[in-house]
Amino acid sequence: MAILEVNNVVKNFGGLKVLKGATLSVNKGTIVGFVGPNGSGKTTLLKIIFSLLDSDGGSIAFNGNDITGLSSHKIYRQGLSFAFQLPRLFLRMPVLDNLIIAARQQHGEGLLRSLFARRAWSNQEEMLADKVFQTLNFLELTHLAKNNTGELSGGQRKLVEIGRALMADPEMMLLDEPAAGVNPVLGKKIYQKLRILCEQGMTFLVVEHKLDMVLDFADWVYMIDHGKIMLAGPPRDVIESPDFYTTYVGEKNNASS
Ligand SMILES: Nc1ncnc2c1ncn2[C@@H]1O[C@H](COP(=O)(O)OP(=O)(O)OP(=O)(O)O)[C@@H](O)[C@H]1O
Ligand SMILES: [Mg+2]
Repeated sequence: MAILEVNNVVKNFGGLKVLKGATLSVNKGTIVGFVGPNGSGKTTLLKIIFSLLDSDGGSIAFNGNDITGLSSHKIYRQGLSFAFQLPRLFLRMPVLDNLIIAARQQHGEGLLRSLFARRAWSNQEEMLADKVFQTLNFLELTHLAKNNTGELSGGQRKLVEIGRALMADPEMMLLDEPAAGVNPVLGKKIYQKLRILCEQGMTFLVVEHKLDMVLDFADWVYMIDHGKIMLAGPPRDVIESPDFYTTYVGEKNNASS
């Protein structure tokens, strides 16, 4: 069953046609890899899905509801999160506080309401604390909980950002190059965590240039080129397709010419 349906999305930046009718769908409980050469429109499409950019045509449905043009906030409330596009990490605060703040933001309204019922309030605080610690534990960050986030490596910070996004219990997460600039061991660990979350029912649409990660972790892959989806299928079929090779080699030839 499709949880996300992107239908014929068009985007122009001035005279530049960046998306020329991009169509894709993501099934619930899967990791979908989104690949394509530099500048082919991947980040632009993720931003349009999450309403960080307006499109010039097309529609997007999440869980069967039309979310085209809804505010990012409303989309987030519906259970779709964009991991590295949430308000920035507080680098001078401990990892723990970054997660607590994200959890409080998520549950803020409930907290205010329950201020009048102290018992409910303390129960909720306890539940939040449990959730924060469970998440830190799951992401293997517990030993870093009290470290300032700025002291962490790039990969560990990405895990913290994923942890913050998890505070909202999203059904689906968009990720733009989660393993970029991350050492290969941690990069693999990030994907292993996504896989576990996926087995628990979450869904991911992930832009990724690292083909080994795509091969190992994606259930399905879309390749975009010049703003149009050119290939779709299981990772090995897409990556071994002659068109995949030409697209990437073509890009390299263009870049060097
Ligand atoms: N705000 C903007 N204004 C004008 N042009 C833009 C803007 N954002 C992106 N572009 C252009 O749109 C095209 C697609 O960019 P996009 O960032 O979506 O590519 P991408 O597939 O994510 O590339 P990469 O793999 O390098 O991240 C590029 O030509 C880019 O220069
Ligand atoms: Mg990009």
